[in-house]
Amino acid sequence: MPQPAAREIAPAKGRLGVLLVGLGAVSTTFIAGVENVRRGRALPIGSLTQMSTIRLGKRPEKRAPKIKDFAPLAALQDLVFAAWDPIPDDAYTAAKKAGVLDPHHLEPVADFLKSITPMPAAFDQNYVKRLHGTNLKRGKNKRELAEQLREDIRGFKTTAGCDRLVMVWCASTEVFITPGPAHQSLAAFEKAMEQNDPAIAPSMLYAWAALMEGVPFANGAPNLTVDVPALEKLAEERHLPIGGKDFKTGQTMMKTVLSPAFKARMLGVAGWYSTNILGNRDGEVLDDPESFKTKEESKLGVLEYILQPEMYPELYGNVFHKVRINYYPPRGDNKEGWDNIDIFGWLGYPMQIKVDFLCRDSILAAPLVLDLALLFDLAHRAGLSGIQEWLSFYFKSPQVATGLYPEHDLFIQHTKLKNTLRWMMGEEQITHLGIEYYEKV
Ligand SMILES: NC(=O)c1ccc[n+]([C@@H]2O[C@H](COP(=O)([O-])OP(=O)(O)OC[C@H]3O[C@@H](n4cnc5c(N)ncnc54)[C@H](O)[C@@H]3O)[C@@H](O)[C@H]2O)c1
Repeated sequence: MPQPAAREIAPAKGRLGVLLVGLGAVSTTFIAGVENVRRGRALPIGSLTQMSTIRLGKRPEKRAPKIKDFAPLAALQDLVFAAWDPIPDDAYTAAKKAGVLDPHHLEPVADFLKSITPMPAAFDQNYVKRLHGTNLKRGKNKRELAEQLREDIRGFKTTAGCDRLVMVWCASTEVFITPGPAHQSLAAFEKAMEQNDPAIAPSMLYAWAALMEGVPFANGAPNLTVDVPALEKLAEERHLPIGGKDFKTGQTMMKTVLSPAFKARMLGVAGWYSTNILGNRDGEVLDDPESFKTKEESKLGVLEYILQPEMYPELYGNVFHKVRINYYPPRGDNKEGWDNIDIFGWLGYPMQIKVDFLCRDSILAAPLVLDLALLFDLAHRAGLSGIQEWLSFYFKSPQVATGLYPEHDLFIQHTKLKNTLRWMMGEEQITHLGIEYYEKV
């Protein structure tokens, strides 16, 4: 079979600036982690781009380079960071307050972390009720705030000497918003910014500013943000990758691993009760019912899509699915997520599965931020624009083209990601057919 043509990909020369919205637990764990890895003090565990191999060609060829040696990704040494936050703490102070990393990962990189101070945020407490910020931008309307964000982006690019930029939303979960008239076209969106329309959340100002400045945008929270026609169109017009929503880390990651297994074996599901306790600032923000609603929508969708009750009404037509998050300060960032799953098998006999995941939220999220920054930059250099569905692997609530349903199964997402890399690099797709090893012609 002739080799498929590789896509033209601009080289990863110079520095890649990573613009982080929010300098809280996830962002500081990410930055401090990258710096520890760069200094050879720790391993980037959990990062597919840094740790995973990718199989190429037929199994007997034994070609399996690391992804970072296969695709032309930016090197960790070339990453530089900037952030916005309404809380003025530098990255060192914020990391200490977040309480995720131990002193032996913070103290050696303390000077580096102290050098990262947050730029004033485009923040509005109406969208994150439990936060009180002081490091804020001022302007007579939302458009002015967004224009100030654009200036920040340009200023950082020049002062840090960046060749390219990517933006990742790692800020708090905003209150629930549904798409409305202000989100349908760029003209309506810009007018709404000028009129201070409540339909325009702060996260949308960052997304708009990023796209106007030619910067790819990834959304790590469940907010609507860039998941609206106006910004999708803007991204396509400007040939910029966008994607979201909501990092898929703990309980939902497990859900998108377990539920495909039940479906693969045609085992029924009667109910799935998920509850969490967490005590970080994210937990506090999610204690507000309006922010929780945004998170709940993001968490609830996965079972519906994976189990396909309309196709298997006897097995999944009546699943009782509940998700709870309880703010419980003593645990800090160390979340505990319990799942009780009521399944049924042959002739309808019931069984139960209990999952108790004592996880660390930001330890799971930080490598996702790294991969998203590197892969969105790669997508941009490879000329991919609009929604990057091949990166659904990283998201709880993946953005997809209109008319498509999202793929939630973690292993299908994983295959799709690797096959997209193979396609970009002109390597054959791996279908797992493998009949040629057995059929002698
Ligand atoms: N850690 C995980 O496993 C995980 C998984 C999925 C999603 N998330 C999401 O990632 C986000 C970050 O999580 P975290 O644990 O770092 O939370 P955090 O509360 O520690 O940090 C968020 C930061 O964002 C800042 N912020 C709020 N609004 C802002 C704005 N308009 N502009 C700039 N900064 C703003 C806050 O001041 C805060 O410092 C949350 O939305 C969370 O729901 C986290």
